[in-house]
Order: sequence, then structure tokens, then C-alpha cells
Amino acid sequence: MTQKSVLLFSGSPRKGGNSELLADSFLEGAADAGARVEKIRLYKKDIWPCIECGGCDETGQCVLQDEMIALYSSIEDADVITVSSPIFFYNITSKTQALVERSQAMWVRKYVLKQNDTHGKKRQGIFLSVGATKGKLLFDGVIRVMRYYFDAINADFAGALLIRGVEKKAEIKEHPFALDRARQLGQAIVSGQDISTMEDIWTPGKK
Ligand SMILES: Cc1cc2nc3c(=O)[nH]c(=O)nc-3n(C[C@H](O)[C@H](O)[C@H](O)COP(=O)(O)O)c2cc1C
Repeated sequence: MTQKSVLLFSGSPRKGGNSELLADSFLEGAADAGARVEKIRLYKKDIWPCIECGGCDETGQCVLQDEMIALYSSIEDADVITVSSPIFFYNITSKTQALVERSQAMWVRKYVLKQNDTHGKKRQGIFLSVGATKGKLLFDGVIRVMRYYFDAINADFAGALLIRGVEKKAEIKEHPFALDRARQLGQAIVSGQDISTMEDIWTPGKK
């Protein structure tokens, strides 16, 4: 069996913060299960939001020459794309949104140019998120965003780990199950297990 690769976009400006700790646990689990893992901190990257220039409309290639250009091929090569972001104003962070918007070039390839860039792979998408409050609807908006993002990059949205009630830096270490569950999720996704039955994991179709 070929080794799986897991690419993770960490979308918090706070290094060592809650979503990054969640991401690190997820990657630990994935590596334990034998995957090659890579974490990219989006706030370290020069990534512009989409400027709606239409430059990708005919070629499926983004014309903005920034650090996103290299990431398109990283996305294409990965088996599992994971996005982690805290909730900022009921949304993903600005840098995460820039990553999402720049998938417009891949959306054009898929839906306008009818190109298939999966190279026969079945790419999967995982979303990890944290927020300070505990509202029922806290993650509803970002789940919808991720649904469309993963569709644009030709990944099946496999599931999400959504942690409420963590605010201060690294407070997630005190959470009863978040980091353990992230590690288990990383292991499970790489091992090809059914994650829909896992406790505390949101999967499409679940309310
Ligand atoms: C600009 C800003 C906006 C935020 N908006 C929300 C919000 O709408 N809902 C919420 O529950 N938490 C909100 N938070 C709290 C963060 O989601 C929370 O502190 C989280 O644990 C930060 O994760 P991090 O350490 O990975 O950056 C906000 C924090 C900041 C800095």
C-alpha cells in the first residue's frame, strides 16, 4: 500500500493556540498511522484573497504570483486535506478565507474546463475548528463554507471536529476530549476507518 499524505492548513494567527494544538494532535495520529504529514501555517504565507480578475477563467490557473501558487500542487498531491481555523466572528479567519477563495482556479478546472486533477486518488477533506462560545449554531456557517471548499478542490468532506468553549491560548489542553479525539481522527482517516460512528465527530448528514 502506498503511503498516504496528509496536508494541513493551520489558519490561526496565534502560534501554539487552540486550533493549532488540535491540528498537531490530528497530525500526530495521522503520522502514527503511517502517513507523511505536512503543516502549513497560513499566517506565515503571502496569500492574497481572490481579486476576481477572471484570469483563471480560461486556463484554470491563478494569475496572482504569490505563495499560493506552490500550494496548488501540494493540494493536488495530498490524499487528505485538513483545514484548521478558529472561529472569528462566526467565520473562518481571513487567511483561511483567502485559501478558500483562491480555490476558485480549481473550481474553474472542475466545473468550467471539466478537468480532473485527482490522478485517480480519492481525496478527503477534514475540518478542525474551535470557538470560545457554546452556541448550537456556532459552526453552521463554516461547515457550509468547508462543504463548498472541499467540493471545489475535489475532496470528499469526510468529517469535522468542532470544539466549543475554548478561548485563552492553549486552553484546549484542559478540554476533556478534544486533543485525544483529534489524534484518533488522524489515525482513523489514514487507516481508512469509518469515522461516521466516532464519538464527537461531525460527518456530513449529521445534524
Ligand atoms: C477577532 C476574533 C473574533 C472571534 N470571534 C468569535 C466568535 O464569533 N465566536 C466564538 O465563539 N469565538 C470567537 N473568538 C474566540 C476564538 O475563536 C477562540 O479564542 C479560539 O480558541 C481561538 O483559537 P486559536 O487559539 O486557535 O487562535 C474570536 C476571537 C477573535 C480574536
